[in-house]
Amino acid sequence: MEILGIDVGGTGIKGALVAIKTGELTTEKHRIPTPNPATPEAVANTIQELINHFKWKGLVGCGFPTPLQHGKCLSGGNLHKDWKGTQVDALFTSKTGNNFFIVNDADAAGLAEISFGAGKNVKGVVIMITLGTGIGSGLFLDGKLLPNTEFGHVLYKNGEIFEKYASDSARKRDGLTRKEWGKRLHKYFKHIKLIISPDLIIIGGGASKKLEKFEGQINVDVPIVSAQAQNEAGIIGAAMAAKHQIK
Ligand code: BGC
Repeated sequence: MEILGIDVGGTGIKGALVAIKTGELTTEKHRIPTPNPATPEAVANTIQELINHFKWKGLVGCGFPTPLQHGKCLSGGNLHKDWKGTQVDALFTSKTGNNFFIVNDADAAGLAEISFGAGKNVKGVVIMITLGTGIGSGLFLDGKLLPNTEFGHVLYKNGEIFEKYASDSARKRDGLTRKEWGKRLHKYFKHIKLIISPDLIIIGGGASKKLEKFEGQINVDVPIVSAQAQNEAGIIGAAMAAKHQIK
């Protein structure tokens, strides 16, 4: 069985067909830059373009990069303020005629890793953290997702959230060296350890490719590993969420 997996990101909207049993992509990935401004209408048009590219008539699982509850966007976050209150699945379904299933992007990435990657068969508390434009989280207990957690939004100081301090976009904004970013990530993961005592932390997003560069800098006494599917985890997990109707 195949499902079209789509990953809506701050800079690109990517999709591919996914074989649900193995978690493998059965087509090339197709990427379209995220429209700017990323209003609901503009993003829905891009989603339609992706559907056209794959000539897909069927179920679509879509990872979405904002706080969500049952497919409804609770805050526009890094996309656009007009998303707040939008029932995202209904919007994309009415635009494309395809049945859409919406899941948070970091939950999707975590689902892929728990099923096929770095978190496979790991018991206990596993947290997936994605470091990109934002910081996203996916929290699992014995392989089961607790959806819609927002651990990038834990407060750092002066009312500022950790996402604004330790994400990849914070690194770019502040022109941080690898060492300076490593220090911030160390503080962040120390805090995550304190509040949820995970057995394993999986890092996804752009930074996951360069995890070895932080060797010795992040010391939190919890195993930290890179996502195995890296940038494809979001697509694979979105398709899996649709299959299992997890939200
Ligand atoms: C959003 C999360 C999302 C993360 C990564 C954050 O700003 O609040 O929902 O998972 O960015 O895209």
